Amino acid sequence: MTDHAPAPPTGPFDAERSAEIVAGSFAGTPDARLRAVLTSLVRHAHAFVKDVGLTPGEWAAGIRFLTETGHASDATRQEFVLLSDVLGVSSVVETLGNPADDGSTESTVEGPFHLVPSPRRATGDSIDEREAADGEPCLVTGRVVDTAGAPVAGALVDVWQADEEGRYDVQRPGDVPDRNLRGLFTADEDGRFRFRTVVPRHYAIPTDGPVGRLLAATGRHPHRAAHIHLQVRSPGIRTLTTHLFVAGSPHLDSDAVFGVKAGLIREFTTVDDPALAAELGIANPFRHADFPITVRRGPTRTCRRRADR
Ligand code: BEZ
Ligand code: FE
Repeated sequence: MTDHAPAPPTGPFDAERSAEIVAGSFAGTPDARLRAVLTSLVRHAHAFVKDVGLTPGEWAAGIRFLTETGHASDATRQEFVLLSDVLGVSSVVETLGNPADDGSTESTVEGPFHLVPSPRRATGDSIDEREAADGEPCLVTGRVVDTAGAPVAGALVDVWQADEEGRYDVQRPGDVPDRNLRGLFTADEDGRFRFRTVVPRHYAIPTDGPVGRLLAATGRHPHRAAHIHLQVRSPGIRTLTTHLFVAGSPHLDSDAVFGVKAGLIREFTTVDDPALAAELGIANPFRHADFPITVRRGPTRTCRRRADR
């Protein structure tokens, strides 16, 4: 007794018609979207094998690589996401799923360092809790508006970043306060937000696993341009996950995960104004970046893949 419909007959295997034969085996898939995705996947996979003339030895090596990628993945490290990132798949999925053709701010990859929840902080607070950070003090300001220009009062602005040496808090446990350089801010009535921090440095994505070996074997560097992550959430708007990139940072033109978009790069200008610095509670001189954000009204389409952490 079987609990599923009989598979459509595929006939004998034939290398020339392989994609057609295998795709046909999925013709009875009840879910139309699953059927379409699997059919296309089979077509492209078979075309790839034929295009490069993949040998049995190379296929075995590929399987070994994917197996190691799985073994390097757990609750805190996702080597498969990293693989998707360095192949640019994360970036193209993110970009096509969140088009910015209506004047909204471009989105980019979330990355593996977003911890939920970020600590709640008040407007103007510092996300850097270290007493005497060595880096350059920095003020980030912005305003969240919708595509019609109306402020999104009360929008949640979730930020996280690496420090002046390119390290996230989770990469130096015990060394810095828990959840340092992270913050959840609430935009005011006019959609404005503001926080103090340190100018982040560019950094290398993890290279101690199979993805690192892939980059080394192909002569690619593992670096990401300096950036601050922002995620903007509010009822009735599509969640925006993006970065603020530091103009002049190394690797803006060769980001290892293809996250850079021209519209996300901002000057971090130097401000030398002791009175203003005192008013803001920041050391003088300091760097300032302004990042106006435009979001779309409508339901969020992205699924939060790390919301459980
Ligand atoms: C990040 O920006 O945090 C990141 C994104 C993709 C891979 C590794 C790190
Ligand atoms: Fe990052």
